[in-house]
Amino acid sequence: MRTIVTLIPGDGIGPEITESVCEILEKAGAEISWETYLAGERSFQENGELIPRALIESIKRNRYALKAPVTTPVGKGFKSVNVGLRQELDLFINLRPSQTLPGVKTRFDQVDIVLFRENTEGLYAGLEIYDERLGIADAIKRVTRKGSERIIRAAFDYARKHNRRKVTLVHKANILKITFGMFLEIGRTISAEYPDIQFEDVIIDNMCMQLVRNPEKYDVVVTTNLFGDILSDLNAGLVGGLGIVAGANLSEDYFVFEAVHGSAPDIAGQDKANPTALLQSAILMLEYLGKFDVAKNIKNALFHVLAQQEWCTADLGGQSGTRKFTQHIVQALQS
Ligand code: NAI
Repeated sequence: MRTIVTLIPGDGIGPEITESVCEILEKAGAEISWETYLAGERSFQENGELIPRALIESIKRNRYALKAPVTTPVGKGFKSVNVGLRQELDLFINLRPSQTLPGVKTRFDQVDIVLFRENTEGLYAGLEIYDERLGIADAIKRVTRKGSERIIRAAFDYARKHNRRKVTLVHKANILKITFGMFLEIGRTISAEYPDIQFEDVIIDNMCMQLVRNPEKYDVVVTTNLFGDILSDLNAGLVGGLGIVAGANLSEDYFVFEAVHGSAPDIAGQDKANPTALLQSAILMLEYLGKFDVAKNIKNALFHVLAQQEWCTADLGGQSGTRKFTQHIVQALQS
């Protein structure tokens, strides 16, 4: 039986990498029927909406979505599509795995970190005030018990389910004693329920230093919104950048998988875009859908092609365009 998934082809290079990923999934026998909706710049130009209501309804119906990057028009009054979807669907987990890939040259060769970033509160809660008279701008970092518990528990549940050995909680409780103090205290309490998983806490500045020296030491990492935003890109950099890592925004009910790079308008329509990040996100989605064999087949094919550098796109030092790279992956699939 085919699974229905909502598809957002996005803007810029979005449609090209979406076409590539859909072709690979179809040839691998993923049996997915796509319900396609525009969002972002093109959607705004065509129907005046950045996030059409019908798109939200589609995700609520299908529960799973795959999203290519969208362009957020510059200017006041344009809310980012990503932020809009997170708020509308309460997607409180930002899941960002970073794993060393064959053939992708980096300084480290054994990185395998899965980061859980709290996605709805912290310094990004949007609570900003400006006092014009005093010339003071404030931003309130809101940390709630409920928000902390659900993200920390999600990290531990993931660790247990995937036979991971350790959860590292990243904070700044030495300075921000109330907000991070509570986050850390909740982490310690929850960790007692998972005696099979090692728990440690690390202060954010130390964590940055440790990550660029010994990233192999880390396994599952959980942190608040701002620190997670920064660490997730740092982790991606350790394994080769945003062009090759998966991303997902999740709740208990809805699962939106996305490439985390932007819409790259500078190379749009030129057959230069690397579809790997969106493909990695689609592989993660197939795993969440329980389609493990298809996911493994595609992952093996992708890794095989990445290991032959000349078959890759130019950003990875190769000579293929998007279409040729896609064909190499299709040919490497096991039938
Ligand atoms: P960008 O990630 O689109 O581009 C930065 C550089 O990386 C460019 O040189 C681009 O050519 C290259 N690049 C990005 N993805 C690539 C790929 N798959 N293959 C080969 N090269 C790739 O970031 P930028 O220029 O800051 O943003 C452009 C637009 O994307 C903006 O409108 C921004 O709002 C939007 N954006 C959307 C995101 C999303 O929907 N998840 C995330 C980040 C930005």
